[in-house]
This record gives sequence, C-alpha cells and structure tokens, in this order.
Amino acid sequence: MFNDFEVTMKNNKIDLKNLRINYSLNKINYNDLSENPFNQFKIWLKDAMNNKIRDCNAMVLSTFDSINGVTSRVVLLKEIKENKFIFFTNYNSLKAKQIKNNNIVSLCFYWNDLERQIRIRGIANKLPNDESTSYFNLRPEESKIAAIISNQSSYINIDEKLEDKLLEFNKNKISKPDHWGGYAIEPHYFEFWQGRENRLHDRFEYDKKGLCWKIKRLSP
Ligand SMILES: Cc1cc2nc3c(=O)[nH]c(=O)nc-3n(C[C@H](O)[C@H](O)[C@H](O)COP(=O)(O)O)c2cc1C
Repeated sequence: MFNDFEVTMKNNKIDLKNLRINYSLNKINYNDLSENPFNQFKIWLKDAMNNKIRDCNAMVLSTFDSINGVTSRVVLLKEIKENKFIFFTNYNSLKAKQIKNNNIVSLCFYWNDLERQIRIRGIANKLPNDESTSYFNLRPEESKIAAIISNQSSYINIDEKLEDKLLEFNKNKISKPDHWGGYAIEPHYFEFWQGRENRLHDRFEYDKKGLCWKIKRLSP
C-alpha cells in the first residue's frame, strides 16, 4: 500500500479514487442517544480519550468574513464549562478578527479511529479576562512566553529568530498579555456522525428550539 503510494507520487500523481474504507466499527441507536447533546458529546469524547486518540480534543474551527470568506483551522478544546466549548488563542489573529465581526462559528471533531465526526454550530464570545489569566498561568513557561512574543498570523521576516527571542525573554516579565485569551462557544446545533457499512452512515442532529433540543435523524 505504502509502496504503491510512493510509486504514484513519483509520477507526480496521487490516486485517491481507490482509497476506500468500509466503516463498520459502531452504530448509533436512537434509543441509546442522550437527550442532551452535551452528555452525548462527553460520552464520545471519553471514548476518544479511552481509545488514546492523539489530539482527541483537536477541533476544526471555521469562521467567516466577507473579504477572506470561510476560514478553517485546528484549535484545541480546553474545557467545557456551563455548556460552552472553550479554546485559547491570540486576539489579534485572523480568527479573532473574523469572530469580532461575525461570532457565528462552526466546530468539527473527527476521530478517524472511531469512525466518528461531530459538527457543532454556535456563538463565540471572549472569556472574561480573569478566566483567561487562570488558564494562562497553568501553561508551561515556554508556552507563556510564546504567547507573549507571537503576534499570531502577522507576517514576520523569513530569518526571524523566534527561538532566540524565547530564550532571551526576561522571565520576571511573564504575565498574560492583553492580546491572548479564550473564547467560549455556546452551541445551538450538534450533528453526530457514525460511519457505517456501505456508506449508510448514522447521523443524528440536535437543534436547539428555545430551551429544548430537538433530535432528528439525517439521511447518510
Ligand atoms: C493540532 C493543532 C492544535 C492547535 N491548537 C491551537 C490552539 O489551541 N489555539 C490557536 O490559536 N491555534 C492553534 N493551532 C494553530 C491554528 O491551527 C492556526 O494555525 C493559528 O491559530 C492561526 O490561525 P488564524 O490565522 O486563522 O487565526 C493548532 C494547530 C494544530 C495543528
């Protein structure tokens, strides 16, 4: 398989049409689903953790603005608090600028080894500063300094010596910079996807109507 891949690469061609997986690990029974999507999410996240899936808290965050359009990138889920999904970033980054203009965002988790995907839509708001500071203080020293010296998503010189800057940073000056902090995403939509044989996948959505979650099955 790997050799075939190398050969096709040599010809500057990648044959994706023959990459085919038959999903068969699991299924979703409507009666087993939790009434609350946060509980269902936590059950699947725990499965991912118990299965030692690397970066199981990695999620694709998509944001939008009218100049760049939809933009996606991976960020790490660091907490679920009061039914909000929390991640941390630089408040000057592209994602932060997009969220400032339009705070409707989408999240997507994909756990390949479990043949599972969860899609979420929600509203993002900045975390209170003291909560960002509490998390910042838990980070390793190098991560703190990196957050301070990096103006994420801005252009830098090709030969910029970031490692030197990190080593030279005066450690007495470490405190959370204003340009770094968290966002809390409040979901109003979830979709749980479980791969099934012959592409007849199981899909269930939770759509928030007032205070209730309406569960519906979706065609594969
Ligand atoms: C596995 C993984 C985890 C990441 N976690 C974060 C994160 O938690 N916060 C963050 O700002 N960027 C994280 N990044 C980097 C982002 O994907 C992205 O490059 C960066 O945030 C700049 O995005 P932007 O220019 O769209 O704002 C991660 C990347 C990967 C591959």
